[in-house]
Amino acid sequence: MELQGKVVVITGGAGGLGKITAELAIKAGAQVILSDFSVDQLNETAAKIGATPVAADVSKEQDIINLASAAVGKFDRIDVWINNAGIWMPHTPAEEMDLNKVRKMFDVNIFGTIYGSISAIKQMKHQGSGVIVNIISASALEGRPLSSGYCASKFAVSGFTKSIREELRQSGIKVIGIYPDKMKTGLFNENKPADYDSYLSPEYVANRIVVNLQNKVQMEELVVKSA
Ligand SMILES: NC(=O)c1ccc[n+]([C@@H]2O[C@H](COP(=O)([O-])OP(=O)(O)OC[C@H]3O[C@@H](n4cnc5c(N)ncnc54)[C@H](OP(=O)(O)O)[C@@H]3O)[C@@H](O)[C@H]2O)c1
Repeated sequence: MELQGKVVVITGGAGGLGKITAELAIKAGAQVILSDFSVDQLNETAAKIGATPVAADVSKEQDIINLASAAVGKFDRIDVWINNAGIWMPHTPAEEMDLNKVRKMFDVNIFGTIYGSISAIKQMKHQGSGVIVNIISASALEGRPLSSGYCASKFAVSGFTKSIREELRQSGIKVIGIYPDKMKTGLFNENKPADYDSYLSPEYVANRIVVNLQNKVQMEELVVKSA
């Protein structure tokens, strides 16, 4: 797909993978609506890279409805919607997890993706075309000890993604699942795991996502590990 002139919405894009994906999409000629709930950081990033900022907390359905309306209000269409916002929790044995944190993670990781996908589907059905990209994780490919809450949230995103892909098969809407291995981003905050330095660079992952979007035949399931 040629990205020149395409309208791309990215959630959780003030930093990390979302920000770099936005930068690459803009370099390829796309109009990017960048969203995040950290308003100051969002505005700063958007101004730096030339995106249109629209603040939204993905765990709030109305924020996402408003984000889609703002994108359509400004650009008349949405060609690509990237559900990127996500949170993680430090490694913990299952029986010691703070369940409020697990619920919050489900609100952001799975409900955020569901709300974003629904808004994108409604607009893309109206257009008869579009691409939804869900940033999942290699944590949705295997069970990982001490990461059961995060893995469960990402397995849920994977199941949702595979299901809507089949549901939308005849609609002109493509649904792509991205499964990156661990990346050096702000996801871990001050709880960086010991092997953090060996993680993938988000630039490498963002490049694989954008190149996949630009390919004539896009991969529906893209697992990104180090080359
Ligand atoms: N890093 C990894 O190892 C890794 C591996 C595989 C998959 N992923 C996935 O990749 C995606 C991007 O993560 P990242 O690694 O780039 O992390 P990141 O640097 O923390 O970026 C995620 C962004 O989403 C924002 N965000 C958090 N909660 C939000 C909400 N409720 N509404 C809107 N924005 C919200 C964050 O804001 P704050 O910074 O203010 O929280 C941050 O700007 C996530 O879905 C993550 O699960 C990450």
